[in-house]
Amino acid sequence: MNTQDFQKRKIDNIPITMVTSYDSWSAALIERSSIDTILVGDSLAMVMHGDTTTLLADSQMMAMHVRAVRRGAPNSFIIGDMPFLSYRKGLLPAMETVELLMRSGANAVKLEGVDGHEDIIEHIIRSGVPVMGHLGLTPQSVHQFGGYRVQGKGDEDQSRIIEQAKRLEELGCFSIVLECIPSDLGRRITEELTIPTIGIGAGNQVDGQVLVLQDLLGLSGERPPKFVKQYLDGSSLIIDALNQYDHESKDRTFPTAKESYR
Ligand code: KIV
Repeated sequence: MNTQDFQKRKIDNIPITMVTSYDSWSAALIERSSIDTILVGDSLAMVMHGDTTTLLADSQMMAMHVRAVRRGAPNSFIIGDMPFLSYRKGLLPAMETVELLMRSGANAVKLEGVDGHEDIIEHIIRSGVPVMGHLGLTPQSVHQFGGYRVQGKGDEDQSRIIEQAKRLEELGCFSIVLECIPSDLGRRITEELTIPTIGIGAGNQVDGQVLVLQDLLGLSGERPPKFVKQYLDGSSLIIDALNQYDHESKDRTFPTAKESYR
């Protein structure tokens, strides 16, 4: 997969699939699957580091996880998230983060919103680095939204998001993530753009889907958001295996001769 393939998928109307990965072992599993592309999302602050928002993630943390994912998935197209405020402090700090992520093994970067950082988006793209946009519920603005809420419910909000999507396309983004918006808005944006949209809670009339790996595998502890479908009850499987190991160790049925040295 590369940025041209993203475009081709839109033209051919073949959905693009993306999942998050933050570590080498899950990246290796994803690369063995038919999933098209990997996002090292700043959701790692929540999923891997146990925080309640994505704000904890910084450039060094993102780079460390991108490196791990690249080691596990040497042939995959990897998108690295630009963390909270990293593209709001001026061009130089933004480019330092871009450099760090790309040198760590990313093929592209993703950043949230567009208002007020158009010049930075344009500069990143002109520097030869593909940029994926992210609109709708942009988790780095959770405190401004007053929580993780569906965006684009009213007419005014919808027009604003459509206009932002068009602006990202004009700036040269190769794709846009649409998070937590009404399906009808997801469809409208997808129809109006020539670049592919990747939805998460944006309905099925978009050009692709992205989910957090732990959510789709049922490994996320808490009740996942409405837009998640769990394809596995991973938590139960893992807890069962741990309990079995615990019991067998305690009643000395593990290890057997097979797992022991003579
Ligand atoms: O950080 C992330 O995992 C994301 C996805 C939810 C799109 O941005």
